[in-house]
Amino acid sequence: MPLITVPIEAGGGYEVTIGRGLLKSCGSIVGHAIERCRIAVITDTVVEELYLEPVRASLTAAGFAVTVFSFPAGERSKNMGTLAAILEFLAAERLTRTDCLVALGGGVVGDLTGFAAGCYLRGLRCLQLPTTLLAAVDSSVGGKTAVNLQGGKNLAGLFLQPSAVICDTASLDTLPPDLFADGIAEALKTAVLSGEPLFSLLENGATRESLSDIIAGSIAFKGRVIEADEFEAGPRRILNLGHTVGHALEQCSGYRISHGRAVAAGLAVIARAAVKLGWGRPGSAARIERALQKNNLPVSTSFTAGELAEAALSDKKRTGNEITLVIPQEIGNCVLRKIAVAELPKIIAAGLEAE
Ligand SMILES: NC(=O)c1ccc[n+]([C@@H]2O[C@H](COP(=O)([O-])OP(=O)(O)OC[C@H]3O[C@@H](n4cnc5c(N)ncnc54)[C@H](O)[C@@H]3O)[C@@H](O)[C@H]2O)c1
Ligand SMILES: [Zn+2]
Repeated sequence: MPLITVPIEAGGGYEVTIGRGLLKSCGSIVGHAIERCRIAVITDTVVEELYLEPVRASLTAAGFAVTVFSFPAGERSKNMGTLAAILEFLAAERLTRTDCLVALGGGVVGDLTGFAAGCYLRGLRCLQLPTTLLAAVDSSVGGKTAVNLQGGKNLAGLFLQPSAVICDTASLDTLPPDLFADGIAEALKTAVLSGEPLFSLLENGATRESLSDIIAGSIAFKGRVIEADEFEAGPRRILNLGHTVGHALEQCSGYRISHGRAVAAGLAVIARAAVKLGWGRPGSAARIERALQKNNLPVSTSFTAGELAEAALSDKKRTGNEITLVIPQEIGNCVLRKIAVAELPKIIAAGLEAE
């Protein structure tokens, strides 16, 4: 299988390497990205069982001294307690600023590891080895890190670009179908932003064979966006397509609906609203819906426009009387649009009707 590399010009500049079987040879790629040092691999209990040994063996064979911290798998671990435990572990292991952290796992491991790397000793390097599709197509690149607070999701965090990202597509073979679909939802969001060729790879249902191209296409697009706006001063907000309603849906469901499925429904809602309100090209919402359905993702919700708008407007990161929505004008052409908060229920209501 050929390797695909995607260069990203953010932070110190780094490469995303995508290919089958890369975890068992990750040591040589890491050896090209950074000089020999101590590496703390941070992972969760599920991924530890599945993939730690090949990673540890390969890093050790390449001359790195490896130590491992593992925490219970799941979103509930993405909190200050786990972050503190990781930092105490790094201190007990006496890692120095020239050492490095490796995130081996999904978005939860990636977010916690990036955060720990950004604040331990005021910052050391970190590498991302994503093992979920969501992490591969989205969270491993871009440098956003976070933990959840009792006051809300992702409320504490920092920006830290990784020094390399290594994505072994074989590791995605063990993902259960619902986690696979969650990742596809984020890739489809990116495809609606970027247009062809990514959209065609997804619109009839993603196949395992096309995964490397889907990951590379998603990351290449996200890379261009973050290169232009690393710290989300403005244009990077385009990546929030489908997320205003998506986050509201997650919240309304008490987080029983996964992030990916919520984003899928959010994408369908905003695409239909755009067409209804004359901002989007007729037919584009129907095409987005069809693509979501072909990938076993939802296109509707039973929550009302009022419930969703209320949840969206309770977002603790929101300021003032306006919010910025990402509007799909057509596939491959989305824009940021400021609207008055009072308009939001009406916009969501339009999106809840059929196109
Ligand atoms: N930083 C960002 O830019 C960004 C972007 C999107 C999402 N996120 C965050 O990512 C998180 C969601 O990511 P996620 O869905 O990867 O969650 P996750 O890391 O919790 O992984 C989901 C589950 O899959 C398991 N798993 C991981 N790899 C596996 C594999 N190869 N085979 C079988 N099981 C495997 C994990 O142990 C876990 O139980 C959220 O916390 C979200 O806020 C961050
Ligand atoms: Zn998302």
